[in-house]
Amino acid sequence: MTRIAITGALGRMGTLLIQEAAKVKDMQLVAGLDVVGAGKTLPGGVIVKDALQLESVLRESEPDVLIDFTIAKAAANNVCTAANLGINLVVGTTGFSPEQHSQMRKAIEGHVAAVITPNFSLGVNVFWKLVADAAAALKDYDIEIIEAHHNQKKDAPSGTALATVEAIKRALGDKEVMHGRQGIMPRGKEIGVHAVRGGDIVGDHTVLFAGPGERLEIKHQAHSRTAFASGAVRAADWVVGKGPGIYSMADVLASR
Ligand SMILES: NC(=O)c1ccc[n+]([C@@H]2O[C@H](COP(=O)([O-])OP(=O)(O)OC[C@H]3O[C@@H](n4cnc5c(N)ncnc54)[C@H](O)[C@@H]3O)[C@@H](O)[C@H]2O)c1
Repeated sequence: MTRIAITGALGRMGTLLIQEAAKVKDMQLVAGLDVVGAGKTLPGGVIVKDALQLESVLRESEPDVLIDFTIAKAAANNVCTAANLGINLVVGTTGFSPEQHSQMRKAIEGHVAAVITPNFSLGVNVFWKLVADAAAALKDYDIEIIEAHHNQKKDAPSGTALATVEAIKRALGDKEVMHGRQGIMPRGKEIGVHAVRGGDIVGDHTVLFAGPGERLEIKHQAHSRTAFASGAVRAADWVVGKGPGIYSMADVLASR
């Protein structure tokens, strides 16, 4: 039985994670925490606890894994609290600063196993591979990344777009990155990154490779958040029993 706790339990992703976890045999939600809605009853009967009480709730409920989909500042603290208690992690939150990344890395390494990715969907993990292959084959083409999300998204560009930049850099070596353009802006050899925000767009990512007389576009569109939630639940099942360290969704998918 995999015992899971969720921070951000009442959020868009938290709500879906609870539904997806309920479908998995041998998985039990033992705690749900949020900064709002303490006292509410979650599907399955677990009562939402105040996230300020995270440490004591984790001590009492003894989960194997904490799944965090909150905001970067909260997630960095939640990760450190859980890792200090020896609880494994699945982190979907995006928008971390380099300092927050290194704070989490220090807490995790040598202590617990964690799957951290800005995108848990199977399709995006294939998209990253396709983009890296195309970048290697089309070395001199201009590259633009265009992402679109709903109007409530806090961070920009998306964590998925930033991970796409990293996948391209791994294929081509370090490259300058330009976030949007305005005014007199002759194009150099940079990767352009553009964030669109509006309505209820779940998450679109396009990478455009433009060269002489042609262009190639590689595009992923999420139709619902279920793709992310089911991937995160699968990662939670996978991470229990793994050696300490930070894993990617590619590691989870490789073990199918
Ligand atoms: N990795 C992925 O596949 C993936 C997919 C979708 C969203 N995300 C990311 O997940 C995060 C959450 O997205 P969302 O759409 O569910 O947002 P949301 O705003 O709907 O939900 C976030 C929840 O976290 C709660 N919260 C805030 N601070 C908290 C704290 N200290 N402790 C516990 N709960 C806290 C909020 O009250 C809210 O209920 C964002 O960073 C988003 O970019 C990642």
